[in-house]
Amino acid sequence: MNCDPLARSYRWMEYAVFGTTLQRCRCCHLQGLQNPRSALVLGDGDGRFTARLAERYPDLRIDYLDISGNMIALARRRIERANAASMQRIRFHQGDARTAALRSESYDVIAAHFFFDFFSFADVELMISRMSALAAPGAAWIVSDFELPPNRLSALWARPLLRTMYLFFRFSVGLDNQRLSDWRAPLRAHGFSSRNACRLWAGFIVSELWIRGTE
Ligand SMILES: C[S@@+](CC[C@H](N)C(=O)[O-])C[C@H]1O[C@@H](n2cnc3c(N)ncnc32)[C@H](O)[C@@H]1O
Repeated sequence: MNCDPLARSYRWMEYAVFGTTLQRCRCCHLQGLQNPRSALVLGDGDGRFTARLAERYPDLRIDYLDISGNMIALARRRIERANAASMQRIRFHQGDARTAALRSESYDVIAAHFFFDFFSFADVELMISRMSALAAPGAAWIVSDFELPPNRLSALWARPLLRTMYLFFRFSVGLDNQRLSDWRAPLRAHGFSSRNACRLWAGFIVSELWIRGTE
């Protein structure tokens, strides 16, 4: 699986299908973080969330990790243009989140937006387990993802849309995974509890804020 060929058009395809909804979703918990000092952003693609995070928290150090060289180049350009000074606080890592050796930093925030849907449950579990080992006590984990709406009527349009999206990624970038994986159970298993949720498009698009060590 390689997202390089999609990197330049990714944002425009997203706007064509979802307008600005996904970006609203990525950013909906930005205000609620408690003075974070360090953050890890998994698979942020063209860097739109990383740019907003750096802007909102001017002292935050950020590790950005993505497997695609083209996505990283776009993210760098975007952040350089928007806020060149923040580049000193952001480290860009190219690697596979399942295996990449990260510094043994203690992160206050970990974010994964529209990322876990690319992986099998075993991979999601593995990544949450690896990254949780790097999370500080009280750390926040923000996950945005798609979900089949509980309402049957909404599931009637959401199911074929999700299927089409998976087929698109299978043929465009060679994505093997073709179904949503549970990320809540592994987060719970690693001591995180759900604190807040944004649900858009009848619950098809969700973003949740999880905090470690709270009930
Ligand atoms: C669907 S895009 C989501 C991008 C962005 N997070 C967003 O909200 O739109 C998935 C991103 O994950 C990256 N990716 C895929 N597999 C990865 C892996 N094993 N490790 C790290 N990044 C990966 C891709 O390069 C791509 O940028």
